[in-house]
Amino acid sequence: MECTYRIIVVGIGPGSPDYLLPIASRTIAAATILVGSQRALDTFASINQVTRVIDKDITGVLDFIEQQLASQDVVVMVSGDPGFYSMLTALRKRFAAECLTVIPGISSVQLAFARVAEVWQDAALISMHGRRAADDVLCYHPGYKVGILTDTQHNPATIAGILLAHGWPTTACVWLCTNLSYDNEEVVRATLAETRSISGFEHSVMVVKA
Ligand SMILES: C[S@@+](CC[C@H](N)C(=O)[O-])C[C@H]1O[C@@H](n2cnc3c(N)ncnc32)[C@H](O)[C@@H]1O
Repeated sequence: MECTYRIIVVGIGPGSPDYLLPIASRTIAAATILVGSQRALDTFASINQVTRVIDKDITGVLDFIEQQLASQDVVVMVSGDPGFYSMLTALRKRFAAECLTVIPGISSVQLAFARVAEVWQDAALISMHGRRAADDVLCYHPGYKVGILTDTQHNPATIAGILLAHGWPTTACVWLCTNLSYDNEEVVRATLAETRSISGFEHSVMVVKA
């Protein structure tokens, strides 16, 4: 497929500009049309750029991108890495891969594992952000380690209950990592049983290791 103009999907990392790759920074600065969450636009957009917020109306955002693409490149910022639960999925459904350039970013999961000095090569990486993970990835087996994206519905307390129901020991070690890379970053360690009664940490990465 011929693409005169391109959609450049930029992973902006966990949020702080400190964790933005130089190529991502240059691409965002050079953008004429910039699409992203309100928080990303507040952090990275400049006054001369045309912006579009990614809100709940994903079809509307895709329509906007398609309209702009007829005459110019469009830069789309996504949090973390585009390859891990991002708007890249919706973009790939509407646009051919040949029209997309993807610039990777540091995932919130990578930073969470770094913060707790754990390797993630042997971990299952799961999202419960807006979804429920399949039972087989939640079931405990000895030596199992998981990194889980959380949200308001599937918050750490709820997820702890789900993991306990899937055979995880009450003593399993949990790290709750929120606002990673920001000044108000918090990393709290607890057991799985204790996590049942911890409130908050809704948009966080939960690392669990038996
Ligand atoms: C739609 S997913 C995006 C994941 C992203 N593509 C990535 O690679 O990190 C949003 C979820 O990522 C996690 N997340 C993103 N940024 C975070 C941060 N700075 N600190 C902690 N968790 C974060 C939270 O679980 C949030 O609910």
